[in-house]
Amino acid sequence: MKMWSGRFRQPLDPEFEKWQRSFPYDRQLLPFELAASRAHANALEHAGVLSSEDLSEIVKALGEIARRAESEPEFLNDPEAEDVHHFVEKQLAALIGATGYKLHTGRSRNEQIATDLRLFVRQSIDTLRNLIADWIEAILTRAEAAGSAAIPAYTHLQPAEPVLVAHWLLAYGEMFLRDATRLADCRKRVNLCPLGSGAVAGATLTINRQTMAAELGFDGPTANSIDATSDRDFAIEFVDALSLLTLHLSRWAEEMILFSTPAYGFVELPEPYSTGSSAMPQKKNPDLLELVRGKAARVMGCAATLQTLVKGLPLAYNKDLQETQEPVFNASDTVIGVLPLVTGFMNTVEFNEAKMNHAAQSGFMNAWAAAAYLVERGVPSRLAHEAVGKAVQLGVERGCDLEKLPLADLQAIHSSFDAAFYSSLGLTEVLALHDVPGGTAPRHVKRALQNARERAALLRLQTPAAIR
Ligand code: ARG
Repeated sequence: MKMWSGRFRQPLDPEFEKWQRSFPYDRQLLPFELAASRAHANALEHAGVLSSEDLSEIVKALGEIARRAESEPEFLNDPEAEDVHHFVEKQLAALIGATGYKLHTGRSRNEQIATDLRLFVRQSIDTLRNLIADWIEAILTRAEAAGSAAIPAYTHLQPAEPVLVAHWLLAYGEMFLRDATRLADCRKRVNLCPLGSGAVAGATLTINRQTMAAELGFDGPTANSIDATSDRDFAIEFVDALSLLTLHLSRWAEEMILFSTPAYGFVELPEPYSTGSSAMPQKKNPDLLELVRGKAARVMGCAATLQTLVKGLPLAYNKDLQETQEPVFNASDTVIGVLPLVTGFMNTVEFNEAKMNHAAQSGFMNAWAAAAYLVERGVPSRLAHEAVGKAVQLGVERGCDLEKLPLADLQAIHSSFDAAFYSSLGLTEVLALHDVPGGTAPRHVKRALQNARERAALLRLQTPAAIR
């Protein structure tokens, strides 16, 4: 039996009927639907709508549905079920007859889908917490292992200044730590329970919303029934946070791809995460990284889809909202799928530290340090900049680095150059010059690493609320 057929005289157009079903994808919400149904059933008994016998029959049947869904894959192949809510009602009726039809008393699918989706998003965030923690820890482990190795930092993709490899990797650590806190923050707004909101105006009987919320591990009930049944902000926020996360992954992938090219040679691609060319026998291609970059587009597309779906909707529930499900599932699956792979990649990729160090010491990347040297001797910063610029020009003409220019030539540019100049240009000195928190001076990088480790460890502390 349909959930709504009473007022209709004609059957649905079969093509339309098939086309409008959400069960092919919302069946993955079944565990949440069953848990929410249990909470509703308990509340109904408490309100005197269900007898204790009704309740135990319904709860037993809900358990049986869960059991069959786990053990019999074909059980979920129901071409008639309109959506996961209809499926459960059909199965209840099949198991316990008319008592099964009592469960829907006072509730609406509008509140159910809002609840199920929130439970899905909450579970996904809890899964992601640990996956992101693994990923960040892989980054931090490589940062620690890099020790005193340096790499050029680029601005405008032009060599800018040398930094510690650890400092470079910590930049990624910060991005993903932000992503983790964004998801944790999003979770607070996700974790409110729409049950009891009814179709739009609230349940049609007095049921205890606090108890239902608590039973499902929510922090409390949502505040307004119109908002609760039409709100998908939690989904939008969640997928927005994921799209930023994949944007970060994409930037990381892009940089790894670039650094693995012979022109840089900083990164040796791990074979288990690369593929060859069917045509060119010499090729080792960065497929994992390229797909990471590509998957970001998919997740960003999901975020755009969700926003576009909701932007023109009048209050409250509209069937358009059914279309918010798949982008949420898609984005969640994509990110949950990609994180263990990038973690594996990070654990196995080889860094060519000799090449990195070499590159970090050539190409005039100590020019700012050279200017700082003049400033220390009382030369105004702008003039020091100008003088070192002239020295760089001379170096470019002669094809040599600053430290190879004879003192006499330097003094012809500015009288404040002296023999101590040469010892201020080494990698160690240049790195140590950036002696501020957040800078690349080794003592600050060491502290930053420790601090990032502590924040990454905190990500794991929360125990997820399990829905089974
Ligand atoms: N399958 C529907 C969805 O995902 C469930 C809610 C249906 N509500 C309704 N009023 N038709 O949105």
